[in-house]
Amino acid sequence: MGFRTIDALDPSYDSLELAKQKGVYRNLFNVAITGEKLGIPQDSYDVVVLVGVAGPKHLPLEAFNEMIRLVKPGGYIVNLMRADYLDKCPEYAGQWEPMVQEHVKKGDWRLVERKRYPCHFYDREGFMEVFRVC
Ligand SMILES: C[S@@+](CC[C@H](N)C(=O)[O-])C[C@H]1O[C@@H](n2cnc3c(N)ncnc32)[C@H](O)[C@@H]1O
Repeated sequence: MGFRTIDALDPSYDSLELAKQKGVYRNLFNVAITGEKLGIPQDSYDVVVLVGVAGPKHLPLEAFNEMIRLVKPGGYIVNLMRADYLDKCPEYAGQWEPMVQEHVKKGDWRLVERKRYPCHFYDREGFMEVFRVC
């Protein structure tokens, strides 16, 4: 995709070790992204990508506030997750879309693309959203 300076962030030491073995990451942060401010300056990244991070007791919706802070204006937040988690996870059910629209209303981001796709995890349908940070 042309991105050359890439950081990884994961609260799981084992996951970070796997990432480290790829030899492509500049910084590896052993921490979860939540609603709390991380020790990373505002507007640090062109893109934040999450693959399979949103799920039960993993990613609070408030974490998107922090991602918006970390991404430069004009940059992107790309989230891929299991589609069924949108309804199955108590922390997302009925709250995901209002969260998205609240950020749209506040002028934090614009929804660029949203789609479902097959086989995200075995036979489970995936859900992808791309936001452009304002
Ligand atoms: C299902 S794995 C997916 C790993 C990898 N992205 C992939 O697609 O193979 C989910 C990962 O998200 C991490 N994770 C969970 N909650 C997180 C959070 N709040 N912030 C950052 N990473 C988190 C987990 O520790 C785990 O390594």
